[in-house]
Amino acid sequence: MNINKIAGVILAAGKGTRMHSPMPKAMHPILGSPMLAYVRRALEAVVENNIFIVIGHGAAQIKTAFPNENFIMQSEQLGTGHALQIALSTVKNFEYIIVVNGDSPAVTSKTIQNFMDAAMDCDLAFASIELDDPASYGRVMRKNGRLTGIVEARDLENPECAPKEINTGLYLFKVECVQRLLPKLNCANRSGEYYITDLIALGLNDNMDVRAIQCGHDENLLGVNSPGELIQTEEIMKERVNRQLLRNGVIIHSPASVMISTFARIAKGVEIYGPCEIFGMTQIGRGTRIEFNSSIRDCLIGENVIIRPFSHLENAIIGDEAIIGPYTRLRPQAEIGAGAHVGNFVEIKKTSLGEFSKANHLSYLGDAQIGRGVNIGAGTITCNYDGQKKHPTVIHDEAFIGSNSSLVAPVEIGAASLVGAGSVITQNVPNDALAIARGCQKNMPRRDIKNK
Ligand code: UD1
Ligand code: MG
Repeated sequence: MNINKIAGVILAAGKGTRMHSPMPKAMHPILGSPMLAYVRRALEAVVENNIFIVIGHGAAQIKTAFPNENFIMQSEQLGTGHALQIALSTVKNFEYIIVVNGDSPAVTSKTIQNFMDAAMDCDLAFASIELDDPASYGRVMRKNGRLTGIVEARDLENPECAPKEINTGLYLFKVECVQRLLPKLNCANRSGEYYITDLIALGLNDNMDVRAIQCGHDENLLGVNSPGELIQTEEIMKERVNRQLLRNGVIIHSPASVMISTFARIAKGVEIYGPCEIFGMTQIGRGTRIEFNSSIRDCLIGENVIIRPFSHLENAIIGDEAIIGPYTRLRPQAEIGAGAHVGNFVEIKKTSLGEFSKANHLSYLGDAQIGRGVNIGAGTITCNYDGQKKHPTVIHDEAFIGSNSSLVAPVEIGAASLVGAGSVITQNVPNDALAIARGCQKNMPRRDIKNK
C-alpha cells in the first residue's frame, strides 16, 4: 500500500444532538483542545497532509479554529454515508481512504497504524471492539462467526440479544469499491439517514473482501456522543497522560486534579501541584515548579521557573529562573526574561519584561518594552489605550518606577532614571533623570484647630 495513495477523511459535520450544546460536537474540548485536534493529529502521523475534514454544522467555528485544513462541506447532514458520498469527489484520485469519526478523540496514530496493517489490501474494513455495555454503538453481525454486516443500535430487532462487538467508526476503504457501493445506500432505517455502515453488507453481497478488524477492548476507539461520554473519555486520556509523565520523571501531586494536554511537552524533573490545568502547546523546562490552581495555555516556560498559585498564563514566554505569581495574569505575548519576578495582581499583555526586572504588585503592563533590572513599583499602570488606539511604552534598563505611577503612552523612560511615586508621566524621561509629576505637597496649619 503506497502511503501517497491514501487519504484520511474525518467526519465532523454532525450536529451532536445528544451533547445538547450549541457548539459543534467536534469543537468540544477535551483536556483543553477540541476533539477534532486529537483525531487530526493521530491521522496526520499516518497519512501526512492528505487529510480532508467533512464539516457542516458549525462549519465557520471549526474553520476559525483550524485555519489551514482541507475542508469538504456537507451542507445538509443526512448521515455518515451521505458525508462520505460528498467527500468522494475530492478524494477520488486516491487509491484508499481511511475514514475516522471526528468524535473519537482518544484514537492514537498507533491504533490507526495497527488497524491499517491488519486491514492491508482489503476492499473494505472497519475496526471493532468488544464492550460490556455497547449502548448506542452499531453492532457487528455475524452468522456462524462470519461477518454479515453492521446494524445500528436503533435498528436492532432484538437489542437484549444483540452482540457486544461494536463498530468503532474507523474504516479503511478502497476508493473504487466505495465508488461502486455508495449509490446503493438508502435511508430506509429508523433514523432516516444514509449510514456509512451499510457499505459493509453491500460489499459482502458484492463478494468484496470485507473485514472486521477486531481490536479487543481498546478504549482508544470509544466515541463521544454525550456529556457523560465526553467526561469519561477525558478522564481516560487525563490518566493516560499523567501516568506517562510520572513514568518519564515528572512529579505530579494530586494527579486526579491535574489536567495536562497531550499536546504539551513537560520535561523531566518538573513538579506540578494539583489542582491545575496545563493546556495547548505548552512547553515546560526542567526543574520548574507549577503550584496549585494555576491555569496555563500555550506557554513556553523555561527551566527552574516557579509558578506560584492562582496564576493564569496564556500564550506567554517565561525565561529560566523567573518567579511568577501568586495571582499573576500573563496574557498573550507577555515575555518574561530570565530571573524576572512578577507578583500578585499583575497583568501583563504584549509586553517584554527584561532579565531580572521586577513587577511584584498590582500593576497593568500592556504594549510595553521593559529593559533589564527595572523595578516596576506597586500600582504602576501603562496607560496604553487612548480610547481608539493602543500606544507603546518603553522603559530602559535599570529604571526605577515609583509606586502608583501612570505612564501615559506613547512614552519612553530613560535608563537608570527614577520616576517619583504617584507620578503621571506624559513626557519622555531622559537617562539618569529624576522625574516627578504630581501635585506639590504643601504643609500648613489645620484651620479647625488654629485658635487652640
Ligand atoms: C457511528 C456509527 C456506529 C458506530 C459509532 C462509533 C453510523 C451510521 N454509525 O454512530 O456504527 O458504532 O459511530 O462511534 O455511522 N457526521 C457527519 N455527517 C453526518 C452525520 C454524522 O459528518 O451527516 C459525523 C459526526 O460529526 C461524527 C461522525 O460522523 O463525528 C459519526 O456520527 P455520529 O452521529 O456520532 O454517529 P454514531 O451514532 O456515534
Ligand atoms: Mg458518534
